[in-house]
Amino acid sequence: MISLKNPIQIGKMRDAGKILYEVEQTLREAIRPGVSTAELDVMAEKLIRRNHAIPSSLHYEGYPCSICASINDEVVHGIPSERRILKEGDIVSIDCTLLLDGWQSDSAFTAGVGTISPEAEKLIRVTEECFFLGVRQCVVGNRLGDVGHAIQQHAQQNGFSPIREFTGHGIGREMHEDPAVYNFGEPGRGIRLRRGMTLAVEPMICQRDWHLTIDDDGWCARTVDHGLCAHYEHTVAVNEDGLPEILTLPGHTWEA
Ligand code: MF3
Ligand code: CO
Ligand code: CO
Repeated sequence: MISLKNPIQIGKMRDAGKILYEVEQTLREAIRPGVSTAELDVMAEKLIRRNHAIPSSLHYEGYPCSICASINDEVVHGIPSERRILKEGDIVSIDCTLLLDGWQSDSAFTAGVGTISPEAEKLIRVTEECFFLGVRQCVVGNRLGDVGHAIQQHAQQNGFSPIREFTGHGIGREMHEDPAVYNFGEPGRGIRLRRGMTLAVEPMICQRDWHLTIDDDGWCARTVDHGLCAHYEHTVAVNEDGLPEILTLPGHTWEA
């Protein structure tokens, strides 16, 4: 069931998004060679709680941390650890979800550690571009297939491929609500977008083959061929008219 949100509810999700944006900026600045992913996790949890929010990944289906930190060929759900030290040339995807006053906010980004290869730079850039091209399709009357198609097209035109086994999702009082937001699809197919839908759009784009395996810890997903993977996610609200609002990117406006 898809739950539509009214402007007051979207306002609360906007407040949650603002805090999450701050958390992510802080983590971005902390990413450098020598830092462990556990340090980033502790930093995130403290900042979330200081803002009277709750880290919603913590204990979610038994997940042990407040962020996911996925390095290089890790796609999503990398568990932070003191033994995972970031090193020059790595790419790391940080995904964080928080709950403020009963409303969820979910966002992720991939950053390079120190200097990274031109190919890794390109993967990160293209993944972000995929997000914005997909979200541009999140307008009333369009369908989810239009969103997935835009993401898939841009990834493939650049020689990359979208992950198929994980998707974006509706979001609101729950972290994961209907509908699933696929990162591939056919134009004109799928659910029609309506005003008040709030979606986590999250392209996960890999360098080569999208097939993945899950580590023995039961969480960490990584590409079978060990190609790199990048992730970029925001919580967005579909408006009555015009382009969507990116709730986890305060101040963002669309170019004409
Ligand atoms: N933030 C993830 C998403 O984008 C979900 C987190 S899974 C958890 O949907 F187990 F880490 F909570
Ligand atoms: Co997320
Ligand atoms: Co999500």
